[in-house]
Amino acid sequence: MNRRYFGLTSLLMTSKKNMKINQSRLLQNIDRYAQIGKKGAIGVERISLSEEDRIARDLLKQQMYEAGLEVYIDKMGNMIGIRKGKKDAKPVAFGSHLDSVYSGGRYDGALGVLAALEIIHTLNDHGIVTDKPLALVNFTNEEGVRFAPDMMGSHVYAHPEMLQEIYASRAYDYYDLTVEKGLENIGYKGEMEPGAIKFDSFLEIHIEQGPVLESENRDIGIVEMVQGIYWSRYVIEGQANHAGTTPISYRKDAGYAASQVVQFVGDYSRKPHNHVLATVGSLAFEPNTINIVPNKATFTLDLRSTEYDTLKGAQKEIDSFIKGLVKSQGLQFTKEEMVRFAPVHFPVEMTNAVQNAAVKSQLTYKRMPSGAGHDAQMMASVCPSTMIFIPSVNGISHNVEEYSKDQDVANGAQVLFDAVLGRAVC
Ligand code: GLV
Ligand code: MN
Ligand code: MN
Repeated sequence: MNRRYFGLTSLLMTSKKNMKINQSRLLQNIDRYAQIGKKGAIGVERISLSEEDRIARDLLKQQMYEAGLEVYIDKMGNMIGIRKGKKDAKPVAFGSHLDSVYSGGRYDGALGVLAALEIIHTLNDHGIVTDKPLALVNFTNEEGVRFAPDMMGSHVYAHPEMLQEIYASRAYDYYDLTVEKGLENIGYKGEMEPGAIKFDSFLEIHIEQGPVLESENRDIGIVEMVQGIYWSRYVIEGQANHAGTTPISYRKDAGYAASQVVQFVGDYSRKPHNHVLATVGSLAFEPNTINIVPNKATFTLDLRSTEYDTLKGAQKEIDSFIKGLVKSQGLQFTKEEMVRFAPVHFPVEMTNAVQNAAVKSQLTYKRMPSGAGHDAQMMASVCPSTMIFIPSVNGISHNVEEYSKDQDVANGAQVLFDAVLGRAVC
């Protein structure tokens, strides 16, 4: 081979090997989406199937077309942008969600989708066509705060037979609004069957949403598993009565009983040997009036554990406490099981791929579990999956103050880029 030609080729090969994502483009894009449903100085409130969700989806669709992707919307509203490869193979998929919790942050979910878009832009910049096709994914309703369950879009993607049941799920605050109607309202009830595009693998970058990486001074979290999640809604019913005339022994006070449950759950979770995180995150009394003994208390329970038996055991213990409590006070209760997701372990081939990508960029890393639920946890049942975490400043998330440093955002996107390339170029 001509020396000069060889020199040019090896230069090109080296530069391709060391392709870098464009940090400022990614950060600008994160900021652009953070204006949609902006809340507080840097936060976001973009509830799934809301007008803000529609606006963010429209922008993503436009950006996917501009980046040369083929765009598919499935019946669950999941958005998939395909970039063709040299081979007719299953696409390597990567993404997350654009919806947020109430009073949420700008990174939770959006980072995963926008880093995915940055991967496409970087490949376009360098004119690279991967061997396997690529799929950028925005899953519907990961947060599940208005319509349960959470991870709804990815759950249905992995279990298309669930579609009709999920369509019927109602907004907790508006009985007439189902998921199906919500999708129609925002114009995102698509044509494609969920799960129709089979993925080679799935990678999701996300903020850690906890304090571990920051406190241990690590750049990247390699997610080995996601803990199990149980969500339940309880209604305790008693009798409304006059606060001034009803002697204590005559009361059927649903509010008092519910507060005892809050105490029990909090105490249970604070005993380290129970190995469970338990939260009563919402509680409402009826009629919620100063001088009336509440006749009704509605509250939710969020239970998490890395151990499945521990999770099931905690649920049982809490339920039996509630059962005994209401019986002893002459009350009644009902329970709705909203979410039952077992812990999920990611395959070593995927976590090692992320580790190799982190090492390539000379980043420090920690192999760790995820405390939060994620779309990758659902995708794990249909294709090899894993996640990349970046540090969360002060471990704060599900909060408008949620923040991750620019350099950490760029590091994570670069690791995603290299991990995707490692999988898609064969
Ligand atoms: C999703 O954000 C969860 O609740 O873990
Ligand atoms: Mn998320
Ligand atoms: Mn979240």
